[in-house]
Amino acid sequence: MKKFLSVLMAATMLVGVMALTGCGGDATEPTTDEANNQSEPASTTATDLKTVTEGVLTMSTNAAFPPYESTDDSGNVVGIDADIAAAIAEKLGLKLQIDDMDFDGALAAAQSGKSDIVMAGVTVNEERQLVLDFTDTYANGVQVVIVPEGSDITSIEDMQGKRIGTQRGTTGYILCSSPVEDGGFGEENVVPYDDAIAAVKALKNGQIDCVVIDNAPAQELVKANPGLTTLETEYANEKYAIGVAKGNTALLDAVNGALKELMEDGTIQSIIDKYIPADAGSAEAE
Ligand code: ARG
Repeated sequence: MKKFLSVLMAATMLVGVMALTGCGGDATEPTTDEANNQSEPASTTATDLKTVTEGVLTMSTNAAFPPYESTDDSGNVVGIDADIAAAIAEKLGLKLQIDDMDFDGALAAAQSGKSDIVMAGVTVNEERQLVLDFTDTYANGVQVVIVPEGSDITSIEDMQGKRIGTQRGTTGYILCSSPVEDGGFGEENVVPYDDAIAAVKALKNGQIDCVVIDNAPAQELVKANPGLTTLETEYANEKYAIGVAKGNTALLDAVNGALKELMEDGTIQSIIDKYIPADAGSAEAE
């Protein structure tokens, strides 16, 4: 990934985001039908693990990022991250609890130990690695640019001086708002929205000229909003991983161990394939 950021910017971003909002609960009971359970026994048992709530794996997320996470009609958080977290929780013998909040709040929750893990299509970057530990990566992300069809923005260079919408606290915001000499477009040209859905609404209303967001949600947003399209040029390539509070090595190792098994047996890939058609090329398990 392009390296744009000074440590100062990272500090600003990560310190400014401590407020947690709208924690909706969503408990998913892992299936524990032993007779039909073909999976390997978990290497770490729940009793070894200290979690926020005993016997429960609490995941913070921002469920406005389909197909990684969104809410269904009954308000349950569904998507790639929810399915992977459920599979990890099952391996660890824990119940999964998903708390939906702002994206920056979801990172902060894991950082401060209010959640056990943050799973929200979180891109690993140096600044976040200072305040969170990360598992191995489980998917690739690509920052892309959404524009109205027929827009005069046809390349990344055309974005200079335009009004760019992003989701607050995301790498899209961080990259775009960095100074021009660092490959960004300047903070004054970037508008942070609560989520990508709000940014796309503003784009349709003509308040901004384009939206920078990860490819998989971008494709869903474009599908749901006729008249929008994405530029073919990719703005940045990234890797997603699960964040755990710094120093919680037992939990990090356990989650990583479960994730590794789920990668090796093809579970992660099949979850991704279930949500992203194979030809979309927007995310692959490592
Ligand atoms: N991958 C980007 C980042 O880490 C965006 C993630 C946004 N995720 C979400 N659930 N809203 O900054």
